[in-house]
Amino acid sequence: MAKKVLVCNPIAEEGIEMLEEAGFEVDQKFGMSKEELTKMVPPYHAMIVRGSTKVREPTLDAAKNLEAIGRPGIGLDNIDVEYAKEKGVAVYNTPTATTISVAELVFTHMFAAYRNVVAGTNSLREGKWIKKELKSNEIYGKTLGIIGYGNIGHEVAKRADCFGMKVIAFDVVDVEDPGPANMVDLDTIITESDFITLHVPHIDSTHHLLSTEEFKKMKGSAVLVDCSRGGVVDEDALYEALTDGEIRFASKDVFAEEPPGDNPLFTLDNFHATPHIGGQTLEGQARAGTQAAEKVIAELQKRG
Ligand SMILES: NC(=O)c1ccc[n+]([C@@H]2O[C@H](COP(=O)([O-])OP(=O)(O)OC[C@H]3O[C@@H](n4cnc5c(N)ncnc54)[C@H](O)[C@@H]3O)[C@@H](O)[C@H]2O)c1
Repeated sequence: MAKKVLVCNPIAEEGIEMLEEAGFEVDQKFGMSKEELTKMVPPYHAMIVRGSTKVREPTLDAAKNLEAIGRPGIGLDNIDVEYAKEKGVAVYNTPTATTISVAELVFTHMFAAYRNVVAGTNSLREGKWIKKELKSNEIYGKTLGIIGYGNIGHEVAKRADCFGMKVIAFDVVDVEDPGPANMVDLDTIITESDFITLHVPHIDSTHHLLSTEEFKKMKGSAVLVDCSRGGVVDEDALYEALTDGEIRFASKDVFAEEPPGDNPLFTLDNFHATPHIGGQTLEGQARAGTQAAEKVIAELQKRG
């Protein structure tokens, strides 16, 4: 009898087709409560869940046949991963599915900041023609400092190199192949960069990695781009740095609180924001769906 897969949130159609082509019976049921999920799960050998579906102990206890959980995306906070492992259930996320999407958002923010895209649009909406006031700079020849040189950091570096930027990077682990980047210490990134982009996880050691002291050391012309995780940048200190002119501009995709409500940063002209859309591209989401399906297929096939 074919193994059964329960898909609890929408994923790319290609992912569903891959599961079916591999010979599994796929059911899609979205928006279930924890209780509904727990009641439904016993016959299934695998589940595919996004962040909004919680897979906690009662569901895992009920999931007598479960062998694998696929999570298209990165965060695994919605799954009791350790308990799942104790029960012999393999858990897979798709950490690189949206790497390129995030790298591209970094450049979206860099160019938008330098070229006054929002101010230009707003001025035209107000019937103004302030061409001369919006004179700016090229990113060509500028120094880009990358903090956290993992998957996204590397993709950002490759693209920056194509734009003719000088790339420096810092990571706490040894990087075997730095590509176009020169590996330097954190202080060099902070003091020498024209652009700083963050690509670290939010863990104890990166909480408020950039705060008052670091902003004071940055170039007055520095632009900060943060598409990492809320909490890595001290938002109060950033507000001060932007209002006091310690740095030129900042752009953030991630916030300490999400949604961020009426964050004072939104009142500043030298601040751009996006609502955590780093991974929100059709391509990134399609990749997340197919990678989750691939991992689930491999696990179910391995177990026979
Ligand atoms: N904005 C979005 O929508 C979005 C989407 C995907 C990922 N992200 C976030 O982007 C970040 C990077 O993702 P990734 O896929 O490149 O992760 P990754 O694990 O490949 O790289 C992270 C790097 O940070 C380094 N690091 C850890 N602590 C550090 C420190 N104190 N100083 C310097 N480097 C440190 C690690 O050694 C690692 O090389 C993560 O926080 C991830 O959650 C955001």
